[in-house]
Amino acid sequence: MENWNPRYNDVYFTPDQGINESRHVFIEGSGLSTRFSRACSRGETQFSIVEIGFGTGLNFMLSLIELQKPGSLQSPDPSALPRLRYVSVEKYPLNLTERMELLSPYFSALPELEQLSSLIPFPRPGWNTWNIPPEIPIPGSRISRAASKVFSPVSSPDVCLELFQGDIREFAEELGALPAGSVHSVYLDGHSPDKNPEMWSTALFRTLNRLCAPEAYLSSYSSAGVVKRALREAGFQVTRRPGFGKKRHMLTARPSAPAAGQPLPGAEPAPTCEVAENTNEKTAGDGAKKSRAPRNKTLSLSPEDRRELKRSLWVVEDCESSSAEGEAGGEWYRDRIFAGDSLQLCRQMPDNSVDLIVADPPYAALRKQFGTRGFSITEPRQYAEWLEPYFAEFARILSDAGSVYVCGDWRGAEAVQPLMNRYFHLRNRITWEREKGRGARANWKNSHEDIWFATKSDSYRFNLDEVKILRSVKAPYTRNGSPRDWLPSSDGAGYRLTHPGNSWTDLTVPFWSMPENTDHPTQKPEKLAARIILASSRPGDLVFDPFLGSGTTAVAARKLGRSFCGCELEEEYCLYALKRLRQADQSPEIQGILSHGDKHIFLHRNSSEAAARKALEQGLLDNE
Ligand SMILES: C[S@@+](CC[C@H](N)C(=O)[O-])C[C@H]1O[C@@H](n2cnc3c(N)ncnc32)[C@H](O)[C@@H]1O
Repeated sequence: MENWNPRYNDVYFTPDQGINESRHVFIEGSGLSTRFSRACSRGETQFSIVEIGFGTGLNFMLSLIELQKPGSLQSPDPSALPRLRYVSVEKYPLNLTERMELLSPYFSALPELEQLSSLIPFPRPGWNTWNIPPEIPIPGSRISRAASKVFSPVSSPDVCLELFQGDIREFAEELGALPAGSVHSVYLDGHSPDKNPEMWSTALFRTLNRLCAPEAYLSSYSSAGVVKRALREAGFQVTRRPGFGKKRHMLTARPSAPAAGQPLPGAEPAPTCEVAENTNEKTAGDGAKKSRAPRNKTLSLSPEDRRELKRSLWVVEDCESSSAEGEAGGEWYRDRIFAGDSLQLCRQMPDNSVDLIVADPPYAALRKQFGTRGFSITEPRQYAEWLEPYFAEFARILSDAGSVYVCGDWRGAEAVQPLMNRYFHLRNRITWEREKGRGARANWKNSHEDIWFATKSDSYRFNLDEVKILRSVKAPYTRNGSPRDWLPSSDGAGYRLTHPGNSWTDLTVPFWSMPENTDHPTQKPEKLAARIILASSRPGDLVFDPFLGSGTTAVAARKLGRSFCGCELEEEYCLYALKRLRQADQSPEIQGILSHGDKHIFLHRNSSEAAARKALEQGLLDNE
C-alpha cells in the first residue's frame, strides 16, 4: 500500500514525518493534554474532538496514546477523567491491511499504535460508533478503570469513536445534531484545499464554530490563504504558527472574538510560540476588539452547578430499595428526576400511580444523537417493538381518570397509532406546526409533529377553560349594541377566547434568545407542555415524563403547581432539568401564557398581552 490517495492525488501523511507532523500540528499544536486536564478540573464529564478527514486514523490513535501517557494529565483525582468522544469523517476508508501496511514503519517506535491500528473496525456507510470497551487493553488503561467508577451507575463507555463514512457535506449536516459549544478540539486534516476544497469550506467552518466550546482550539496543517480566509469568515480568530519540517506554517484558531480586553473563559496561553500576524480584526474606537452581543440565553452549567445538582439527582438502578419503601405507602418517585432507563423505573412504580403521562420518545427513522448516545431505529416495526413495553407500563401506572400524550413525527405514526389504540382510548391526533425544521433536498421540509392524545378510560378530566386561546375577532357580533362574547381593546381590535383546536400553530421551538433554551437537540417549548398539563391534570396531580430530555415537562408542571416525575438516560440532560427546576422557582412565568392566580390565557401570535390582561381583569374567563 502506497502512501498515496489516487482519488485526490495526494499523500495520506507527509512521507517520513507522519507521526511527528501529526503530533506537532494536532496533539501538541492543540495543547491536547493541557486542554483535557483543564476539562477534567472543571468537572466536565466528556471531552470531544472533531476531526475532518480520518484517513489512517493516526490522529485518533495518537490522541488516545497521548492521553494515556503516564504523567500527561494533571488531574489530582484520576477517577475524575472525562470520557473521550472522537467524531470524524472518511469518504474512502482504508481496510485493515492497508492501514497496517501504511503505518507499519512506526510500529517499532510506538507499539501501542500497532495494537490500536489492528482494532479499528472497517466502517459501513453512515455512522459507526465504536465504544472501546474496558476489557480491551488500551495501553495504560487509566481512562477505563477511572471512568467506570465515575459514570456508574449511569454507565458510559470510556472512549468512543464515532466515524461517519460518507461525504463531508452530509457529515456537516449531521454535525448540526451535536450540542453547540460541546467540542474542545478540532483537527483539520483533509487532503489539501486545492485538491479537496469541500473539506475547507466556510460553511463547514461555521458549523464547527457553533460546536466549539469557548476554550476550544482548532488546528490545521495547511496555512493556505483560502483556509485562513474561510476560517475568519466563519468567525474564528486565526493565528499562524511554525509548521513542521519543511512546512513553514500551520494554523491554529479559536472560535470567536473575546470580549473587549478579556481572555476567553477558561482560555490558556497558546500552546507553543506564535508567529505575529496582522489578523485584520475589526476594532472598536478605542482599539479594543468588538465582542458579540450577549443575547444568547441558552442554559449553561458551571462546575459548581454540576457538583451541586448531582446531589439532587436520583439514579434508576438505586431505587429498588425506594420502591420497596413505596409499597409501604411512600411516593418515592414524586418530584424527582431519575437518571437511567425509564422502562426500568416504570417497572418499579405502583399501578395507577400517575395522573398524566407526557412522553416524547426519540423519533422513528431519525438518526439522532442525544448527548453520549445515538438513537437510530429506522423500521416502523422495530420502532413499535421498542416502544411497546413502555406502553404496557404506561397503561399500568396511569390512573383510571388519567391521560397520556405521545409525541412523534409522521414516520412514527405507523407504530404509535396502533399502540395508542391497543393500550388506551385514542381521542385525538394533534398537529403541532412548528415551522422550523431542516430543509430536505428532494422532499418537503418536515415542519410539523404529531401529539397523540389518549385516555385510560372514558371517564377522564379535560379542563377546557384552562386552555382557551385569545385571538383577534374576525366577526365582532353585538347584542343591544354591546360586544357579544368579545372584548374591545384600546388598540381598536376585538379579542375573544376561543376553543383550542387540534392544530397548534402558536408554539415555536425554543430559540437561543429564550431563557428556557438548552443545548438539548429536540427540546419542546414549555408552552406546549403547559397546554397539555393544564388541560389534562389538576393542581397537585402527578405528571410523569419518561423521556424527559432537558426537563420541559417537569418545569411546566412545577410552574403550574403540579408534581412531576421525570426520567432521562443522559445525565447531562438531567442536570439541565434540575437547573431549570431551580430557576422555575425564581421565575414561574411561561413564555406565551398570561397567568393570573389560577387562571391562564394562551396568547396567540397576534394577540396582545394588554388585551389578555384586560380579559382577565374584566372576568371574561368567568363569563365563558
Ligand atoms: C425527544 S427527546 C425529549 C425532549 C424533551 N421533551 C425536552 O423538551 O427536552 C427524547 C429523550 O429521551 C431520552 N431517552 C431515550 N431513551 C430513554 C429511556 N429508555 N429512558 C429515559 N430516557 C430516554 C433521550 O436521551 C432524549 O433526551
